[in-house]
Amino acid sequence: MTQMAIIGGTGLTRLPDFTVVRRALVSTPYGNPSAELLIGRLHEQELIFLARHGDPHVLPPHRINYRANISALKQMGVASILAVAAVGGIRADMVPGKIAIPDQLIDYTYGRAHTFFEDHLDHVTHIDFTRPYSPWLRDKLLNAARVAGIDVIDGGVYGCTQGPRLETAAEIRRLERDGCDLVGMTGMPEAALAREAGMDYACCAVVANWAAGKAAGEITMAEIEANLAKGMADLTVLLRHWVQA
Ligand code: HPA
Repeated sequence: MTQMAIIGGTGLTRLPDFTVVRRALVSTPYGNPSAELLIGRLHEQELIFLARHGDPHVLPPHRINYRANISALKQMGVASILAVAAVGGIRADMVPGKIAIPDQLIDYTYGRAHTFFEDHLDHVTHIDFTRPYSPWLRDKLLNAARVAGIDVIDGGVYGCTQGPRLETAAEIRRLERDGCDLVGMTGMPEAALAREAGMDYACCAVVANWAAGKAAGEITMAEIEANLAKGMADLTVLLRHWVQA
């Protein structure tokens, strides 16, 4: 099997059941990644884990050095990345606590260093991004979920906002009109950089809350944490089946 990595987001700073064998502080031409890369085993499968927001969890989404993270994983020989991300649910079935495997995305971020292809180029490069998530890796995740008996949502459009604030209700209505089913803050430029680096990339989106205006009242951190705890319990089982497939 190819070298795999998991990038853990909010609610997954540490990976349950993961045995760390070695830690690597990798420097890249783009600076330092969010944290040391943890090299180890998850149920006998060799894997690299990276905490996207740092460990402890201190980097907000717009301050993450996405280029350094992807570049460091590439240097370590990683061929496929499973990105775990907390999201808000927009579509009616994106219920808090559920896991979705999105198949499309829309990028609303700004001012983030978002490409490897800008300086010292021999020629201008435009990657194909028609299908932003690796179909092969998505299928593997969906199969693992089936075997594990976890009811994940197959597909959905991930809208990536700038953060760190949550959205207004009107912004969520706009995202919904655009066709977004989920909203998060870290899916881009991570997915595009992985494609530029020639790596397979898929996302496990754990629904932490109803997006702004989709439920009565305000969104609280307590609500987010409780739903993430449920989602992450399912995710732990899903990952066991994923690495063993
Ligand atoms: N919006 C954006 N990002 C998020 C949300 C949200 O409602 N919940 C978790 N990450």
